[in-house]
Order: sequence, then structure tokens, then C-alpha cells
Amino acid sequence: MLTGKRIVLGVSGGIAAYKAVEVCRRLVDAGAHVVPVMTRGAEHFLGRTTLSALASEPVQTELWDAAEPIPHTRLGQTADLILVAPATARVLSAYATGLSTDLLTNTLLATRAPVVVCPAMHTEMWEHPAVVDNIATLRRRGVHLVDPESGRLAGGDVGAGRLAAPERIVAAVERVLGPADLAGARVVVSAGGTREPIDAVRVIANRSSGKQGIAIARAAADRGAEVTLVSTVPTPGLTGARPEIRVVDVETAADLEAAMSAHSRSADVVVMAAAVADFRPKAVADRKLKKADGPPEIVLEPTPDILAGLGATKRAGQVLVGFAAETDDLVANAERKLRAKHLDLIVANDVGAPGVGFQHDTNAVTLLTPGADPRTIGLTGKDDIAHAVLDAVVEIRSAARTELAHPTT
Ligand code: C5P
Repeated sequence: MLTGKRIVLGVSGGIAAYKAVEVCRRLVDAGAHVVPVMTRGAEHFLGRTTLSALASEPVQTELWDAAEPIPHTRLGQTADLILVAPATARVLSAYATGLSTDLLTNTLLATRAPVVVCPAMHTEMWEHPAVVDNIATLRRRGVHLVDPESGRLAGGDVGAGRLAAPERIVAAVERVLGPADLAGARVVVSAGGTREPIDAVRVIANRSSGKQGIAIARAAADRGAEVTLVSTVPTPGLTGARPEIRVVDVETAADLEAAMSAHSRSADVVVMAAAVADFRPKAVADRKLKKADGPPEIVLEPTPDILAGLGATKRAGQVLVGFAAETDDLVANAERKLRAKHLDLIVANDVGAPGVGFQHDTNAVTLLTPGADPRTIGLTGKDDIAHAVLDAVVEIRSAARTELAHPTT
């Protein structure tokens, strides 16, 4: 899959540097030509000889190399991809601000190749606002992030910040360098929870953060799709920064229904990741209801089931994906919705489980398609879940194309 690809593997100075060896081995096994670059910090954790022995050429560390006066330009220009694993808070900060202090940070600035960054650090550092901002900046610029995992960290601490598993890192590299399997596809994704007004200031809302839907929109764009993201939540990292993602802001179920029906008409793939209110206040006061008047009686009415409507009017060849957030009987309930709403795929979320669903950065899901066995994806980052959902979409699209070319009946 990576045959002939020239990958600069940047290793910076975190305890996870030892895992870069495994990443390097896997890349070489997959056919890549791996050019290793270590920072000074990395040398405290990992011997040059180890990485040099497994990579395709010896490790480079120096910017001021006499034999090669401008090594960073050459490395940056000739790379098909730059991978930084692990990326420390320092490297993220330098890259986000454009500071070039060593061979790795210079190479990152002197390239037009795609960059995959795999942060690893202690939880306190990972959650520090400076790091959070730097990550957001890099994402906005189109850098591919492989989010760290939760687990045991150096010194016996446990928390978020552990370097992603080598297989996840290599899968991300393959995705970035692989064929754009959604090139030219028009994908519409809804994200976030709806807000239904009670009066001029109060709403009925839900706990959806929109993170999973936004991750799907971003992943679809990374895979070549033209994306419309219909969102109830702000998308500061996307609006204006990713021209291939058009953002349509909505608030209520009625807004969402109007936007989805307008944009899904010409779509090849529609993903309803939004958490839509099932009921809304029948009458909305146009002023603020006064506390002194006592608790209001709020009469609710059902909202339209947008997804069921899209399923009923779906055009041939369109792939329709729904979500099922459940606390009980996950698979049975999701299967029922898959059939009732005429979906091609449903993503079932056990929102009662730890780390799963609303507001978390992680998720665990079961993917259900008509006539196939359920496929479970264990707890992982929402970006990984997004790609797993899109892998299933791509499979459905190619099965449909094969069926059109060679009908079985
Ligand atoms: O039936 P339930 O609400 O559990 O189904 C969830 C799926 O249906 C989600 O994909 C959600 O976006 C969609 N939905 C909808 N309109 C509603 C309620 C849910 O499109 N009124």
C-alpha cells in the first residue's frame, strides 16, 4: 500500500519515542522508504542506532550538517508525507506558530506534503489551553491529527495523552496517502443537538456536542468529498478554513429539516448524526416568561422524523446513514430503526457506557447494515469512528456499483 512512498518520520522527545520504532518497522514492511529525523529530546529516549537500523536510511538530527547545507529543504521537498510520532507539546507549539528551531521543525515548515501528527504527553499538558489551541490551529490548516489514547502514562499516571497505537498511526498514514475514495462524492452531514424554544430566552436542548458529526464531515473532506455540514454547534475550525466543507447553521428541528431536505436532494451520501428533539413546545412565547407567574405549563408536540422522511424519499444510489443513541437493547433498537427508516447503515451508540457518545472525544459503536452481521468498533477517538463509518459507506457504494454492473437477479 505504501510502496515507493517517501515518508519522513519525525520523532520528538517523549517517553513514547520507543513506539516510533514499531511505527517505523510497520511503515517499512508496508513498502515505504522511511527517512528518520530525531530531535535532541528524542535522543534521550531512543538510541539513534535502533531507529537507523530499522529505517531506510540513517537517522538525521542536525540542521547544520556540513555535507548537506540545507537538509530540511531537501527532506521537506522530497517527502510524500511527514509523520511526527510522538509529537511533544514543544513540537506542536513550534509547528503551530511557525517556529523553526531544529531539523524537524524546519522540515515541517519546508514542505507541501501532507503532515500527520501524533501527539503524546501527560494529561495535564494535553489538556492545557495552549496545547488545545495549537491542536485547533493545526487541524484548521489541514494537518492530520491522530489523537492520543487514554491509558497508562509514564511514571504510573493514568489518563489521556498516550501515543496512539502503532497500527492506528500506520492506518492514518495509509488513509492520507491512499486513493481519495470519496473523491467527487457529495456528502451531507448533520451535527449537534437541536434547541427548541420555550420563550424568548429558554430552550429545550440535549447533550449532543456535535463532535462526532463534525469528525465525519472532516474525514469525508479528507477523503475527497464535497461536504455540506448542517450544524447546530459553532464550527470555528472549519468555517472558512476548509473550502471543501460548506457549513449551514441551524438551531431547531424545523431548521434542520429544511436544510437537510434542500441539501440532501443532490447528495450521494447523507449522514444524520444530529441529535434531533423528538418533541418541541407547541406554543412559543415571544417574550420571556416571568418567574413570578409560576411554573409554565409547557405543552409539547412531536417534531418530524427527518431521517425517516429522507429514507422515504431517498433517490436510487444515495447512501443514507442514521445514528441510534441508546441506553438499552442497543442492537435490537438500532436494527428496528435501520428497517423502519429505510437506512443503508446505522451507527449504534451505547450512550450509557463510559467514554461513549455525547460530549466525549471518544466513542464506541456498532455498525449495522441490512443483511450483514453487526460490526463493533471499540472505544477510540471520534476521528477513527468517523473513518470506520466512511469505510462502511464506501463499501456500500462499491457494492451498489458492482450490483449495477453485474445484477444478480
Ligand atoms: O428514532 P431515533 O430518534 O432514535 O433515531 C435516531 C436517528 O434519527 C438519528 O440519526 C437522528 O439524527 C434521526 N432523527 C431525525 N429526526 C428526529 C429524530 C431523530 O432525523 N425527529
